[in-house]
Amino acid sequence: LKLRLYSDLATWWPLVSPPEGDLEQAQFLFQLLTHALGRRPGGVLELGSGGGGVASHLAPHVGSLTLVDIAPEMLEVSKRVNPSAEHVAGDMRAVRLGKKFDAVVLQQAVMYMATPEDLRAAFETAREHVETDGIVVVVPDFVEETFQPSTGVGGRDDPSSGHGLRYLEWRHTPREGESHVTADFAIIARRADGATTLVHDRHVWGLFSRDAWKQALVDAGFPIVQLVDDPWKRDVFLARPGI
Ligand SMILES: C[S@@+](CC[C@H](N)C(=O)[O-])C[C@H]1O[C@@H](n2cnc3c(N)ncnc32)[C@H](O)[C@@H]1O
Repeated sequence: LKLRLYSDLATWWPLVSPPEGDLEQAQFLFQLLTHALGRRPGGVLELGSGGGGVASHLAPHVGSLTLVDIAPEMLEVSKRVNPSAEHVAGDMRAVRLGKKFDAVVLQQAVMYMATPEDLRAAFETAREHVETDGIVVVVPDFVEETFQPSTGVGGRDDPSSGHGLRYLEWRHTPREGESHVTADFAIIARRADGATTLVHDRHVWGLFSRDAWKQALVDAGFPIVQLVDDPWKRDVFLARPGI
């Protein structure tokens, strides 16, 4: 199912998630990568880079950035904030770039892996693209142990264009035995002249236990998996290919 947030509404993405809001997340990732590698990261690959907000803050500090997303419209948004990065349209479960990177990052977008098979396929892509002495960082928004059904609102106005966007995000209680959760998004995009577009998107996100995330990494070829917390108390998985 094509999500309108990442297709015909993609140009509105900066009003959903302004790049300024990704600064702290990027700082945390940079410190983590540098510490784990024991050096400043050279080539970094992000799988599911979306609007490129996090990447835009990593860019000045890493050797080079390669950004992969399944939605061409999101890549166009990202190109504006990451003019020097390489952008590639591809599915994180299947893309093969034929080169290796110091670090591979999966965050936010990895939630769209809604079955154990998809999760493993995404991790196999990461395995395929990481140097032997490199690092893979996986930051799920939640694991089964931390997921909470919730309702939230977001969005903002753009004073320069006069456009505005607001959304309601409703995360539902998962059904017994399912490996995913659903979230309904109601989005109102309002143009400067007052014309509005109202959209409903249903997002389906993977719901796996901490052990299942770890095991999927092991199964994809990472014998060494370490678990740390980020400043927002989320689980962060660090995976190394080993020798
Ligand atoms: C919330 S956005 C990511 C935001 C991004 N991390 C940032 O810093 O702006 C989620 C992205 O995941 C992408 N996505 C979903 N499934 C994907 C897949 N199978 N392969 C690659 N990208 C995918 C969507 O197209 C969307 O751009």
